[in-house]
Amino acid sequence: MSGGAYLVVDVGTTKVCALVGEIKGNEQWVTGIGFVPSSGLKKGTIVNLEEATSSIKQAIEKALVQAKQTPQVVLASIAGSHVKTWTGMGVVVLKNREVTPEDVDEVIQAAQSIDLPQDQMILHVIPQEFVVDNLRGVQQPIGMSGVRLEAHVQLITAQRSQVQNLLRCFENLGIEVSAVLYQGLASAEAVLTPEEKDLGVLIIDLGGGTTDFAVIQEYVLKYVGSIPVGGENLTNDLAIGLRTTKTEAERIKIEKGVCLRELVDEQEEVEVPGVGARPSRRISRRVLAEILELRMKEILELVDQNISKNVDKSLLTGGAVLTGGSALLPGLIYLTDQILDLPTRIGYPVKLKGLGEEINHPQFATAVGMLVYAFQNYQLEEIKTSKGKGILQKLKEWIKGF
Ligand SMILES: Nc1ncnc2c1ncn2[C@@H]1O[C@H](COP(=O)(O)OP(=O)(O)OP(=O)(O)O)[C@@H](O)[C@H]1O
Ligand SMILES: [Mg+2]
Repeated sequence: MSGGAYLVVDVGTTKVCALVGEIKGNEQWVTGIGFVPSSGLKKGTIVNLEEATSSIKQAIEKALVQAKQTPQVVLASIAGSHVKTWTGMGVVVLKNREVTPEDVDEVIQAAQSIDLPQDQMILHVIPQEFVVDNLRGVQQPIGMSGVRLEAHVQLITAQRSQVQNLLRCFENLGIEVSAVLYQGLASAEAVLTPEEKDLGVLIIDLGGGTTDFAVIQEYVLKYVGSIPVGGENLTNDLAIGLRTTKTEAERIKIEKGVCLRELVDEQEEVEVPGVGARPSRRISRRVLAEILELRMKEILELVDQNISKNVDKSLLTGGAVLTGGSALLPGLIYLTDQILDLPTRIGYPVKLKGLGEEINHPQFATAVGMLVYAFQNYQLEEIKTSKGKGILQKLKEWIKGF
Protein backbone atom coordinates (compact mmCIF):
# COMPACT_ATOMS: atom_id res chain seq x y z
CA MET A 1 0.00 0.00 0.00
CA SER A 2 1.33 3.46 -0.83
CA GLY A 3 -0.20 5.99 1.52
CA GLY A 4 1.26 9.36 0.58
CA ALA A 5 4.45 11.19 1.36
CA TYR A 6 6.28 12.84 4.24
CA LEU A 7 8.67 15.80 4.14
CA VAL A 8 11.30 16.30 6.83
CA VAL A 9 13.68 19.24 7.02
CA ASP A 10 16.81 19.11 9.19
CA VAL A 11 17.79 22.73 9.70
CA GLY A 12 21.46 22.39 10.65
CA THR A 13 24.15 25.00 11.23
CA THR A 14 26.13 24.03 8.13
CA LYS A 15 23.51 22.45 5.89
CA VAL A 16 19.77 22.20 5.47
CA CYS A 17 18.68 18.73 4.41
CA ALA A 18 15.16 18.01 3.19
CA LEU A 19 14.00 14.45 2.56
CA VAL A 20 10.78 13.19 1.05
CA GLY A 21 9.77 9.65 1.92
CA GLU A 22 6.93 7.20 1.86
CA ILE A 23 5.96 3.77 3.10
CA LYS A 24 5.46 1.19 0.34
CA GLY A 25 4.17 -2.10 1.62
CA ASN A 26 6.25 -2.56 4.76
CA GLU A 27 9.26 -0.76 3.37
CA GLN A 28 10.49 2.72 4.21
CA TRP A 29 11.51 4.66 1.10
CA VAL A 30 13.30 7.94 0.55
CA THR A 31 12.21 9.43 -2.77
CA GLY A 32 13.67 12.95 -2.74
CA ILE A 33 16.80 14.56 -1.31
CA GLY A 34 17.52 18.30 -1.10
CA PHE A 35 20.76 19.32 0.50
CA VAL A 36 22.15 22.88 0.53
CA PRO A 37 24.67 24.79 2.67
CA SER A 38 22.72 26.73 5.28
CA SER A 39 22.96 30.41 5.95
CA GLY A 40 21.38 32.49 8.67
CA LEU A 41 22.19 29.99 11.44
CA LYS A 42 24.76 30.09 14.22
CA LYS A 43 25.32 27.34 16.79
CA GLY A 44 22.10 25.64 15.74
CA THR A 45 19.91 28.71 16.11
CA ILE A 46 18.44 31.04 13.50
CA VAL A 47 20.09 34.45 13.50
CA ASN A 48 18.80 35.69 10.13
CA LEU A 49 15.22 34.74 9.21
CA GLU A 50 15.45 35.74 5.58
CA GLU A 51 18.63 33.77 4.90
CA ALA A 52 17.42 30.73 6.82
CA THR A 53 14.10 30.81 4.93
CA SER A 54 15.95 30.91 1.63
CA SER A 55 18.14 27.88 2.52
CA ILE A 56 15.10 25.92 3.70
CA LYS A 57 13.25 26.80 0.48
CA GLN A 58 16.12 25.65 -1.74
CA ALA A 59 16.48 22.34 0.09
CA ILE A 60 12.73 21.65 -0.01
CA GLU A 61 12.47 22.53 -3.69
CA LYS A 62 15.24 20.12 -4.62
CA ALA A 63 13.69 17.28 -2.63
CA LEU A 64 10.20 17.86 -4.02
CA VAL A 65 11.33 18.11 -7.61
CA GLN A 66 13.17 14.82 -7.30
CA ALA A 67 10.35 13.02 -5.47
CA LYS A 68 7.51 14.43 -7.60
CA GLN A 69 5.20 13.80 -4.62
CA THR A 70 3.11 16.09 -2.46
CA PRO A 71 3.80 15.46 1.22
CA GLN A 72 1.00 15.56 3.76
CA VAL A 73 3.23 15.81 6.82
CA VAL A 74 6.10 18.25 7.33
CA LEU A 75 8.55 17.93 10.24
CA ALA A 76 11.28 20.45 11.06
CA SER A 77 14.25 20.00 13.39
CA ILE A 78 15.68 22.18 16.12
CA ALA A 79 18.82 22.05 18.29
CA GLY A 80 20.95 24.32 20.42
CA SER A 81 21.83 24.73 24.06
CA HIS A 82 18.36 26.19 24.76
CA VAL A 83 16.96 22.64 24.45
CA LYS A 84 16.51 21.12 27.92
CA THR A 85 15.10 18.03 29.66
CA TRP A 86 12.91 17.96 32.76
CA THR A 87 11.20 15.22 34.70
CA GLY A 88 7.48 15.32 35.40
CA MET A 89 5.09 13.18 37.45
CA GLY A 90 1.29 12.90 37.33
CA VAL A 91 -1.35 10.89 39.20
CA VAL A 92 -4.98 9.99 38.40
CA VAL A 93 -7.58 7.94 40.24
CA LEU A 94 -8.91 5.02 38.17
CA LYS A 95 -12.69 5.47 38.13
CA ASN A 96 -13.33 2.06 36.52
CA ARG A 97 -10.69 0.23 38.63
CA GLU A 98 -8.98 -0.57 35.32
CA VAL A 99 -6.61 1.58 33.23
CA THR A 100 -8.27 2.93 30.08
CA PRO A 101 -6.57 4.81 27.18
CA GLU A 102 -8.29 7.99 28.50
CA ASP A 103 -6.65 7.49 31.93
CA VAL A 104 -3.25 7.24 30.24
CA ASP A 105 -3.88 10.45 28.26
CA GLU A 106 -5.02 12.19 31.41
CA VAL A 107 -2.07 11.10 33.56
CA ILE A 108 0.44 12.07 30.87
CA GLN A 109 -1.25 15.44 30.61
CA ALA A 110 -1.03 15.81 34.40
CA ALA A 111 2.68 14.92 34.35
CA GLN A 112 3.34 17.89 32.05
CA SER A 113 2.11 20.49 34.50
CA ILE A 114 5.47 21.41 35.98
CA ASP A 115 6.78 24.91 36.59
CA LEU A 116 8.71 25.56 33.40
CA PRO A 117 10.47 28.86 32.85
CA GLN A 118 8.17 31.20 30.87
CA ASP A 119 10.37 31.14 27.78
CA GLN A 120 10.42 27.31 27.43
CA MET A 121 7.87 25.27 25.52
CA ILE A 122 7.40 21.50 25.42
CA LEU A 123 8.58 19.70 22.27
CA HIS A 124 8.37 16.08 23.40
CA VAL A 125 6.76 14.19 26.27
CA ILE A 126 8.45 10.84 26.75
CA PRO A 127 6.84 8.42 29.23
CA GLN A 128 9.51 6.70 31.36
CA GLU A 129 7.34 4.38 33.42
CA PHE A 130 3.86 3.99 34.87
CA VAL A 131 3.04 2.91 38.40
CA VAL A 132 -0.29 1.08 38.89
CA ASP A 133 -1.07 1.08 42.64
CA ASN A 134 2.28 -0.17 43.99
CA LEU A 135 3.50 -1.91 40.85
CA ARG A 136 6.43 0.05 39.41
CA GLY A 137 8.16 -0.13 36.02
CA VAL A 138 4.99 -0.66 33.96
CA GLN A 139 5.49 0.27 30.28
CA GLN A 140 2.00 -0.50 28.95
CA PRO A 141 -0.64 -0.01 31.68
CA ILE A 142 -3.85 -0.17 29.57
CA GLY A 143 -6.17 -2.92 30.85
CA MET A 144 -4.38 -3.33 34.20
CA SER A 145 -6.47 -3.36 37.39
CA GLY A 146 -5.96 -0.82 40.16
CA VAL A 147 -7.22 2.36 41.79
CA ARG A 148 -4.32 4.71 41.15
CA LEU A 149 -2.21 5.40 38.05
CA GLU A 150 1.03 7.37 38.21
CA ALA A 151 3.13 8.45 35.20
CA HIS A 152 6.76 9.53 35.16
CA VAL A 153 7.73 11.44 32.03
CA GLN A 154 10.73 13.16 30.55
CA LEU A 155 9.94 16.51 28.93
CA ILE A 156 12.11 17.98 26.20
CA THR A 157 11.65 21.72 25.95
CA ALA A 158 13.04 24.43 23.72
CA GLN A 159 13.12 28.19 23.91
CA ARG A 160 9.79 29.49 22.63
CA SER A 161 11.30 32.25 20.50
CA GLN A 162 13.66 29.79 18.78
CA VAL A 163 10.78 27.49 17.88
CA GLN A 164 8.75 30.46 16.67
CA ASN A 165 11.62 31.66 14.48
CA LEU A 166 11.93 28.22 12.91
CA LEU A 167 8.18 28.06 12.28
CA ARG A 168 8.25 31.58 10.85
CA CYS A 169 10.71 30.45 8.15
CA PHE A 170 8.23 27.79 7.03
CA GLU A 171 5.29 30.19 7.34
CA ASN A 172 7.14 32.58 5.04
CA LEU A 173 7.11 29.77 2.49
CA GLY A 174 3.42 29.06 3.06
CA ILE A 175 4.16 25.69 4.68
CA GLU A 176 2.50 24.47 7.84
CA VAL A 177 4.80 22.37 10.03
CA SER A 178 3.16 19.36 11.67
CA ALA A 179 5.80 19.04 14.42
CA VAL A 180 9.21 20.30 15.51
CA LEU A 181 11.65 17.55 16.52
CA TYR A 182 14.73 17.78 18.67
CA GLN A 183 17.70 16.84 16.46
CA GLY A 184 19.35 14.62 19.08
CA LEU A 185 16.22 12.51 19.36
CA ALA A 186 15.98 12.14 15.58
CA SER A 187 19.64 11.13 15.22
CA ALA A 188 19.14 8.45 17.88
CA GLU A 189 16.22 7.09 15.86
CA ALA A 190 18.47 6.68 12.82
CA VAL A 191 21.67 5.14 14.17
CA LEU A 192 21.06 3.10 17.33
CA THR A 193 20.48 -0.64 17.37
CA PRO A 194 17.69 -2.13 19.50
CA GLU A 195 20.35 -3.81 21.72
CA GLU A 196 22.05 -0.47 22.42
CA LYS A 197 18.74 1.21 23.19
CA ASP A 198 17.93 -1.59 25.60
CA LEU A 199 21.32 -1.78 27.34
CA GLY A 200 21.88 1.96 27.74
CA VAL A 201 23.73 4.11 25.23
CA LEU A 202 25.08 7.62 24.79
CA ILE A 203 24.64 9.07 21.31
CA ILE A 204 26.71 12.12 20.41
CA ASP A 205 25.81 14.10 17.27
CA LEU A 206 28.92 16.07 16.37
CA GLY A 207 27.51 18.63 13.97
CA GLY A 208 28.92 21.85 12.54
CA GLY A 209 27.78 24.31 15.18
CA THR A 210 26.53 22.15 18.04
CA THR A 211 27.27 18.87 19.73
CA ASP A 212 23.99 17.27 20.82
CA PHE A 213 23.86 14.20 22.99
CA ALA A 214 21.21 11.88 24.33
CA VAL A 215 21.09 8.92 26.70
CA ILE A 216 18.70 6.07 25.97
CA GLN A 217 18.14 3.09 28.23
CA GLU A 218 15.52 0.34 28.15
CA TYR A 219 14.24 1.96 24.94
CA VAL A 220 13.45 5.18 26.81
CA LEU A 221 15.12 8.54 26.34
CA LYS A 222 16.54 9.51 29.72
CA TYR A 223 18.48 12.68 29.12
CA VAL A 224 19.49 15.15 26.40
CA GLY A 225 22.06 17.91 26.33
CA SER A 226 23.70 20.23 23.85
CA ILE A 227 26.87 22.30 23.80
CA PRO A 228 27.44 25.13 21.34
CA VAL A 229 30.69 23.76 19.91
CA GLY A 230 31.16 21.63 16.79
CA GLY A 231 33.02 21.11 13.51
CA GLU A 232 33.07 24.82 12.68
CA ASN A 233 35.22 25.41 15.76
CA LEU A 234 37.69 22.82 14.48
CA THR A 235 37.81 24.62 11.13
CA ASN A 236 38.28 28.02 12.79
CA ASP A 237 41.08 26.68 14.98
CA LEU A 238 42.82 25.32 11.89
CA ALA A 239 42.38 28.57 9.98
CA ILE A 240 44.01 30.48 12.84
CA GLY A 241 46.66 27.87 13.68
CA LEU A 242 47.70 27.28 10.06
CA ARG A 243 47.18 30.92 9.03
CA THR A 244 44.92 30.19 6.09
CA THR A 245 41.34 30.93 5.02
CA LYS A 246 38.35 29.12 6.54
CA THR A 247 37.56 27.60 3.14
CA GLU A 248 41.04 26.09 2.87
CA ALA A 249 41.01 25.06 6.52
CA GLU A 250 37.71 23.20 5.93
CA ARG A 251 39.16 21.44 2.88
CA ILE A 252 42.35 20.48 4.72
CA LYS A 253 40.30 19.22 7.67
CA ILE A 254 38.19 16.94 5.48
CA GLU A 255 41.11 15.68 3.34
CA LYS A 256 43.90 15.44 5.92
CA GLY A 257 42.25 15.97 9.28
CA VAL A 258 42.98 13.62 12.19
CA CYS A 259 42.43 14.26 15.88
CA LEU A 260 45.04 11.96 17.38
CA ARG A 261 48.68 12.94 16.98
CA GLU A 262 49.94 9.36 17.42
CA LEU A 263 48.25 8.40 14.16
CA VAL A 264 50.48 10.72 12.14
CA ASP A 265 53.95 10.00 10.88
CA GLU A 266 56.32 12.73 12.06
CA GLN A 267 57.74 13.29 8.57
CA GLU A 268 54.37 13.78 6.91
CA GLU A 269 53.63 17.26 5.57
CA VAL A 270 50.53 19.12 4.39
CA GLU A 271 50.44 21.98 1.91
CA VAL A 272 48.71 25.07 3.28
CA PRO A 273 47.74 27.80 0.78
CA GLY A 274 48.66 31.31 1.97
CA VAL A 275 46.13 34.11 2.43
CA GLY A 276 45.99 36.71 -0.38
CA ALA A 277 49.06 36.64 -2.62
CA ARG A 278 51.26 34.91 -0.01
CA PRO A 279 52.90 31.69 -1.14
CA SER A 280 51.73 28.36 0.18
CA ARG A 281 53.70 26.62 2.93
CA ARG A 282 54.31 23.05 3.96
CA ILE A 283 53.63 22.22 7.57
CA SER A 284 53.89 19.03 9.58
CA ARG A 285 50.63 17.07 9.64
CA ARG A 286 51.35 16.54 13.34
CA VAL A 287 50.66 20.24 13.94
CA LEU A 288 47.30 19.80 12.24
CA ALA A 289 46.55 16.77 14.41
CA GLU A 290 47.55 18.62 17.58
CA ILE A 291 45.19 21.52 16.83
CA LEU A 292 42.26 19.20 16.11
CA GLU A 293 43.03 16.92 19.05
CA LEU A 294 43.04 19.83 21.47
CA ARG A 295 39.59 21.05 20.40
CA MET A 296 38.09 17.58 20.13
CA LYS A 297 39.31 16.75 23.64
CA GLU A 298 37.67 19.91 24.91
CA ILE A 299 34.33 19.00 23.26
CA LEU A 300 34.42 15.43 24.60
CA GLU A 301 35.40 16.58 28.10
CA LEU A 302 32.45 18.99 28.12
CA VAL A 303 30.14 16.15 27.11
CA ASP A 304 31.66 13.89 29.76
CA GLN A 305 31.25 16.49 32.52
CA ASN A 306 27.64 17.09 31.55
CA ILE A 307 26.82 13.38 31.33
CA SER A 308 28.62 12.46 34.56
CA LYS A 309 26.68 15.13 36.41
CA ASN A 310 23.27 14.05 35.11
CA VAL A 311 23.38 10.33 34.33
CA ASP A 312 24.72 7.21 36.02
CA LYS A 313 27.46 6.34 33.51
CA SER A 314 27.75 2.78 34.78
CA LEU A 315 24.35 2.12 33.17
CA LEU A 316 25.71 2.88 29.69
CA THR A 317 26.71 -0.69 28.90
CA GLY A 318 25.80 -0.18 25.23
CA GLY A 319 28.68 2.35 25.00
CA ALA A 320 28.81 5.53 22.94
CA VAL A 321 27.80 6.12 19.33
CA LEU A 322 29.18 9.07 17.37
CA THR A 323 27.28 10.59 14.50
CA GLY A 324 26.95 13.94 12.67
CA GLY A 325 29.42 15.17 10.03
CA SER A 326 32.36 15.58 12.40
CA ALA A 327 32.13 11.97 13.59
CA LEU A 328 34.25 10.90 10.63
CA LEU A 329 37.43 12.56 11.87
CA PRO A 330 40.07 9.79 12.13
CA GLY A 331 41.17 9.10 15.70
CA LEU A 332 37.85 10.16 17.20
CA ILE A 333 36.75 6.68 18.23
CA TYR A 334 39.91 6.17 20.29
CA LEU A 335 39.72 9.65 21.82
CA THR A 336 36.07 9.19 22.84
CA ASP A 337 36.81 5.77 24.25
CA GLN A 338 39.57 7.31 26.37
CA ILE A 339 37.80 10.44 27.58
CA LEU A 340 34.32 9.06 28.18
CA ASP A 341 35.55 5.59 29.12
CA LEU A 342 32.90 4.00 26.91
CA PRO A 343 33.32 1.57 24.00
CA THR A 344 32.64 3.72 20.95
CA ARG A 345 31.52 3.27 17.35
CA ILE A 346 30.47 5.50 14.46
CA GLY A 347 26.73 5.60 13.78
CA TYR A 348 25.64 5.52 10.14
CA PRO A 349 21.94 6.11 9.48
CA VAL A 350 19.73 3.11 8.89
CA LYS A 351 19.49 2.31 5.15
CA LEU A 352 16.20 3.25 3.57
CA LYS A 353 15.02 1.99 0.19
CA GLY A 354 15.18 4.15 -2.93
CA LEU A 355 17.80 6.88 -2.58
CA GLY A 356 19.01 5.60 0.80
CA GLU A 357 22.55 4.95 -0.44
CA GLU A 358 23.06 8.65 -1.20
CA ILE A 359 22.47 9.65 2.39
CA ASN A 360 24.48 6.89 3.99
CA HIS A 361 26.72 9.34 5.88
CA PRO A 362 26.64 10.35 9.58
CA GLN A 363 25.88 13.89 8.41
CA PHE A 364 22.39 12.72 7.40
CA ALA A 365 21.60 10.87 10.63
CA THR A 366 19.22 13.57 11.86
CA ALA A 367 17.28 13.84 8.58
CA VAL A 368 16.97 10.06 8.20
CA GLY A 369 15.91 9.76 11.86
CA MET A 370 13.27 12.42 11.30
CA LEU A 371 11.85 10.46 8.39
CA VAL A 372 11.78 7.24 10.40
CA TYR A 373 10.11 9.13 13.26
CA ALA A 374 7.52 10.51 10.82
CA PHE A 375 6.80 7.04 9.43
CA GLN A 376 6.28 5.70 12.94
CA ASN A 377 4.27 8.53 14.43
CA TYR A 378 2.04 10.02 11.74
CA GLN A 379 -0.88 8.32 10.05
CA LEU A 380 -1.35 10.10 6.76
CA GLU A 381 -5.09 9.65 6.39
CA GLU A 382 -5.79 11.54 9.63
CA ILE A 383 -3.52 14.38 8.65
CA LYS A 384 -5.00 14.74 5.17
CA THR A 385 -8.40 15.57 6.56
CA SER A 386 -7.28 17.97 9.26
CA LYS A 387 -3.99 19.81 9.26
CA GLY A 388 -2.76 18.70 5.87
CA LYS A 389 -4.84 20.87 3.61
CA GLY A 390 -2.83 24.08 3.94
CA ILE A 391 0.55 22.56 3.30
CA LEU A 392 -0.84 20.33 0.61
CA GLN A 393 -1.96 23.20 -1.57
CA LYS A 394 1.28 25.14 -1.28
CA LEU A 395 3.51 22.16 -1.95
CA LYS A 396 1.40 21.18 -4.97
CA GLU A 397 1.94 24.66 -6.35
CA TRP A 398 5.66 24.29 -5.84
CA ILE A 399 5.84 21.02 -7.68
CA LYS A 400 3.76 22.44 -10.53
CA GLY A 401 6.26 25.25 -10.83
CA PHE A 402 8.92 22.83 -12.10
N1 LIG B 1 34.98 13.61 6.63
C1 LIG B 1 34.87 14.55 7.56
N2 LIG B 1 35.84 14.72 8.51
C2 LIG B 1 35.74 15.68 9.44
N3 LIG B 1 34.72 16.55 9.53
C3 LIG B 1 33.73 16.43 8.62
C4 LIG B 1 33.74 15.44 7.60
N4 LIG B 1 32.62 15.58 6.85
C5 LIG B 1 31.93 16.63 7.38
N5 LIG B 1 32.60 17.14 8.44
C6 LIG B 1 32.22 18.29 9.28
O1 LIG B 1 30.92 18.07 9.76
C7 LIG B 1 30.30 19.32 10.05
C8 LIG B 1 28.89 19.30 9.54
O2 LIG B 1 28.20 18.25 10.16
P1 LIG B 1 26.63 18.17 10.12
O3 LIG B 1 26.17 18.19 8.71
O4 LIG B 1 26.26 17.00 10.95
O5 LIG B 1 26.27 19.53 10.85
P2 LIG B 1 24.89 20.34 10.87
O6 LIG B 1 23.79 19.39 11.05
O7 LIG B 1 24.81 21.27 9.70
O8 LIG B 1 25.11 21.26 12.13
P3 LIG B 1 24.45 21.22 13.59
O9 LIG B 1 23.91 19.86 13.80
O10 LIG B 1 25.60 21.53 14.49
O11 LIG B 1 23.45 22.31 13.59
C9 LIG B 1 31.14 20.40 9.38
O12 LIG B 1 31.81 21.16 10.37
C10 LIG B 1 32.11 19.60 8.53
O13 LIG B 1 33.36 20.23 8.48
MG1 LIG C 1 22.94 18.45 12.71
